[in-house]
Amino acid sequence: MDYISSPPKLITKEADVTPTVLAAMANTDNPRLKEVMTVLVEHLHQFILKTRPTEEEFEYALRWIVEIGQLTNEFHNEVVLAADVVGASTLIDLINNDGMQGETMSALLGPFYRGGAPICTNGDCIARSQTPGATLFFSGRVIGVDGAPVAGAVLDVWQASPVGLYENQDETQEDCNLRGKFTSEADGRYHFRSVKPAGYPVPTDGPVGVLLRAQKREPMRPAHVHFIVSAPGHKTLITQIFSDTPEALAADVVFGAKQQIVGNFIMHTEPHPDYPDASLPFYTCEYDFKLVPGKSTMPVPPISGKKS
Ligand code: BEZ
Ligand code: FE
Repeated sequence: MDYISSPPKLITKEADVTPTVLAAMANTDNPRLKEVMTVLVEHLHQFILKTRPTEEEFEYALRWIVEIGQLTNEFHNEVVLAADVVGASTLIDLINNDGMQGETMSALLGPFYRGGAPICTNGDCIARSQTPGATLFFSGRVIGVDGAPVAGAVLDVWQASPVGLYENQDETQEDCNLRGKFTSEADGRYHFRSVKPAGYPVPTDGPVGVLLRAQKREPMRPAHVHFIVSAPGHKTLITQIFSDTPEALAADVVFGAKQQIVGNFIMHTEPHPDYPDASLPFYTCEYDFKLVPGKSTMPVPPISGKKS
């Protein structure tokens, strides 16, 4: 619709608002900003006209958004959490990462990526303080979609403790517990030791929790380990490797679980010569990450530290 050629002068009725606002934004130089804001205003106004909120509902909604902002700081990111529970993050992920070239499927970053994880040597254990759970030996290769090894890829790994909390949420855990950065070897191999992940609830003590309770939704995420796999000349892969029941995967409160990134976590109840010092039972998971050529970038961490 060509609102711009004959913009209404002063608003007198509902139907005047959208064209007047679009006319006010018409001089935006940046074409992408102009496109995004135009579509946003059109859809926002349509949403308002369809749902016809009362003034009390509008005030409530604005307060909900204010609380999301107020709760967000360097240790906690309620903004990312809100985007995750309404499916926005997974939709953005799928638009930008379709897996069509045979690369490993991605999954949303989530609010708990800190950046600055300790640099580790292959074989290191990322459980840095007393952490419950069976030992997990995680290994595999970083390869291209042609199967060629990618040497020197950095695997930034993080996971929640089986108590259900990331280290930055839990003062009993050591700084950067269950976080570490590994580098793939000449044949693309990487390997590290951790604990088998468990499912956990997302934080529900803020406005996102208010929404989830009102919607009678369980706040659970299926058990997973997060990875960012990056290498020069390759598109960075942000993903999670899952270990849970089909029911738990389907009930992921942030819609992040995908079949292709369910890992083969094997329980070992007998001693194994490759893992002589492991107490029983322990788990192994072998997963090869497949990268496509592209730009190597890193996301801005949603949080940057741990409250001391
Ligand atoms: C996570 O897996 O760390 C996560 C993702 C989305 C929301 C909350 C937590
Ligand atoms: Fe997680």
